[in-house]
Amino acid sequence: MNRIPVILDGDPGHDDAIAWVLAFAHPEAFEILGAVSVSGNAILTKTTYNMLRILTLLGATDIPAAAGAERPLCGEPSPAPSVHGQSGLDGPVLPEPGFSLCGLSGVELMTELLRESREPVTLAPTGPLTDVAALFLAHPELKAKIGRISLMGGGLLSGNWTPAAEFNILVDPEAAKVVFESGVPITMAGLDVTQRAYVTPEEFEKIRAVGGEVARVVADWLEFFYGYHRALGYPGATLHDPVAVAALLRPEIMTTRELYVQVETCGEFCRGATVGDFYSRSGKTPNVTAILDIDRPAFVELILDAVRFYK
Ligand code: BDR
Ligand code: CA
Repeated sequence: MNRIPVILDGDPGHDDAIAWVLAFAHPEAFEILGAVSVSGNAILTKTTYNMLRILTLLGATDIPAAAGAERPLCGEPSPAPSVHGQSGLDGPVLPEPGFSLCGLSGVELMTELLRESREPVTLAPTGPLTDVAALFLAHPELKAKIGRISLMGGGLLSGNWTPAAEFNILVDPEAAKVVFESGVPITMAGLDVTQRAYVTPEEFEKIRAVGGEVARVVADWLEFFYGYHRALGYPGATLHDPVAVAALLRPEIMTTRELYVQVETCGEFCRGATVGDFYSRSGKTPNVTAILDIDRPAFVELILDAVRFYK
């Protein structure tokens, strides 16, 4: 089987970090070309430091890593310390970075990697879409080199940061609009599915019982992350971002629907909403494969298997 060349872009973030644990646990499926941090859950200096620490933990110190956008296309950063803590990745002590940034900006790195790749590349953004939009605005010709964007963002039925908007899209709706209107095939892991992709405290302990440093850190991340979710009445820690990676690995455990989805950038109540045309009222061709459901036990097993890889 040909490996999928993948560029990771995220704002780690507990669930971004676990998405990357999953991605690097499958070298038979993915060739990870590079990683880019973006401002989102925390300011860029923090997400960049977290990116380097995560990659060091996973032994992925040989891939090029770059700092992406410091702020949304329009507006200011709006970090979420209530969810991810002051560092953007509170909880277990992590190794200090064992390598340095590659010296390019996020857009420069993605540009170089796309130009060099002979195969269509998959982008896996798990934070605000600022870097991807900036890439498309600067180099529209490179869209042709991207086979798919498998992203975490949006929600067709509700938001989580406002009643209508999900965090990643709300932070930079203008960027999301550029990406959703880009014509590049999109798989959308929105809240519709990611709210169902939770891991319970009993399952944290199964992960911890695998043994080894990565298993311990992932279990501790889940415990920290659950602190936020427990207060809202969730049965476990909601692993939004890993669904975007799992969709590339195990699409058969998900239910999807082809939909035309637009991003609301104005609106008194609905800025940042992702509006799905369920009844084809627009007459537009679907631009998104929206994931609507997941086999949760199979998803948890995928996370367990990923952690076993590092043992
Ligand atoms: C998204 O927001 C962030 O807090 C998570 O990392 C995830 O990407 C969920 O709304
Ligand atoms: Ca994220």
